[in-house]
Amino acid sequence: MKTIVLRNLSKFSYAMKESLRTLRTNIQFCGDDVKVIMFTSSVPNEGKSTVTVNLARSLSESGKSVLVIDTDMRKSVLMGRLKAKANEDKQVSGLSHYLSGQKGLPEIVYLTQMPKFCMVFAGPTVPNPTEILDKKYFEDLIAFGRKNFDYVLIDCAPIGAAIDAAVVAKHCDGAVLVMAQGSSDRRMVLDAKKQLEVAGIKILGAVLNKVRAEKGYYGRYYGSHYGKYYGKYYGNQYGEQ
Ligand SMILES: Nc1ncnc2c1ncn2[C@@H]1O[C@H](COP(=O)(O)OP(=O)(O)OP(=O)(O)O)[C@@H](O)[C@H]1O
Ligand SMILES: [Mg+2]
Repeated sequence: MKTIVLRNLSKFSYAMKESLRTLRTNIQFCGDDVKVIMFTSSVPNEGKSTVTVNLARSLSESGKSVLVIDTDMRKSVLMGRLKAKANEDKQVSGLSHYLSGQKGLPEIVYLTQMPKFCMVFAGPTVPNPTEILDKKYFEDLIAFGRKNFDYVLIDCAPIGAAIDAAVVAKHCDGAVLVMAQGSSDRRMVLDAKKQLEVAGIKILGAVLNKVRAEKGYYGRYYGSHYGKYYGKYYGNQYGEQ
């Protein structure tokens, strides 16, 4: 398998670590029939990519094998943000190469420096992401993920912005809705929930991200990257509303 080094992984604060552990535990208690999980949100920028990658790190640390697939082929930022550098390739091959028939499966799955943590990056932006996601190639990738990993985490576009997430939903066992505090209002969140229900996917729960920690309480962790924010995971509360 090809290898890649993610040179820019943020350090977790204590609060973030705890939140991720809670999220990880909640996901694990969803049962062993929940393996392929998509992460979406109602509006952009709520933290889907951050939560997906960091949960994958947390799962990998706990000994699970995990494949992250970045399906946001409209605006992929993960490769740049993680400063990914492939060991064998000059140019990293991604999902859009594979879905358009230019590359095969073994060429797009990269093993990172973390144990059992593999990544498929989005690849170059394409004009027709929804169309190519709907092809058999994507189905084959998910089948590969199911067979070879404990978890497949799929980073999606916001469900309110494009129907890509609804197409991806067909292949998943559950969805997690990421909400940033103060970013989407109640109506937007309920709309996103409705769209996921229409897509026929089980909503596993919601992550309330970018929560401002109360001053003093997490004071000593303010110095790190996630200092002033931490994610919270609310079991199935959201799904049951
Ligand atoms: N818990 C957090 N604390 C602090 N900053 C965060 C947190 N989560 C995300 N961010 C920051 O918010 C920005 C948006 O995050 P991210 O790219 O993960 O969101 P996204 O939902 O994937 O966005 P998009 O809709 O563009 O794909 C990034 O700059 C990221 O570093
Ligand atoms: Mg993203």
